[in-house]
Amino acid sequence: MKTVALVSRKGGAGKTTLAVNLAISAHLAGFKTMLADIDPQRSATDALKARVAPGPILMEINAGKLFQTKVHAEHAGLDLLIVDTPAAPEADVLQAVQCADLCVLVCRPTFLDIASVARSTEAVRRLGKPGLIVLNQAPAKRLGEEPTTVLQAVQALRFCGLPIAPIGLRARAAYQHAIARGLSACEWAPGDPASQEIERLWRHVEALALSTQDVSQARTN
Ligand SMILES: Nc1ncnc2c1ncn2[C@@H]1O[C@H](COP(=O)(O)OP(=O)(O)O)[C@@H](O)[C@H]1O
Ligand SMILES: [Mg+2]
Repeated sequence: MKTVALVSRKGGAGKTTLAVNLAISAHLAGFKTMLADIDPQRSATDALKARVAPGPILMEINAGKLFQTKVHAEHAGLDLLIVDTPAAPEADVLQAVQCADLCVLVCRPTFLDIASVARSTEAVRRLGKPGLIVLNQAPAKRLGEEPTTVLQAVQALRFCGLPIAPIGLRARAAYQHAIARGLSACEWAPGDPASQEIERLWRHVEALALSTQDVSQARTN
């Protein structure tokens, strides 16, 4: 089983949006998937409870229960655990990073988000975890040109020393409509731009998560 934690110390960056979309994508791809919601705001829980169709298993837990939940999920034969984290306290975020095989750092193209991601990057690297930065809520291209804010954000994020996902998410109403019904953007409007972004991001995250080395293997090598 692989564990992917969505991390950002800024509220509103898009952790829950990505956690729900990735968990549903994994479920639809045939992975036995659990979404652990360790954020007391319970936004991922609200989203998945609005879902009518079968979907990922939902666990509403405190950060302190995450390790135990992971062990149970592994014993139950699950393939993937997605963890939706709060912005704070730091100790709870670090629990999720500790448990993760891959940390997905969610970042809007703003100065404060980038500064915050730089700090989170430090923690991820200190704990020796693979990480990936995903740019979210990027403004749309204008006349085919990438807005300066996005170009500058990508340039600044390169200094963090973690890979930046080749596909980010634009600010699109589809994400808000979809999550209100417990759907992924792919289910809400198949083939639409938001759907294509999620499909490509899921494929990237899937490949990265599956390529991470199992902790047990790492110990014996
Ligand atoms: N790419 C996006 N486009 C439009 N709205 C988005 C996007 N990502 C997130 N949102 C919206 O922004 C708000 C905060 O997102 P959320 O995923 O709850 O962030 P976090 O979990 O990091 O606090 C929500 O209302 C969500 O629907
Ligand atoms: Mg959230």
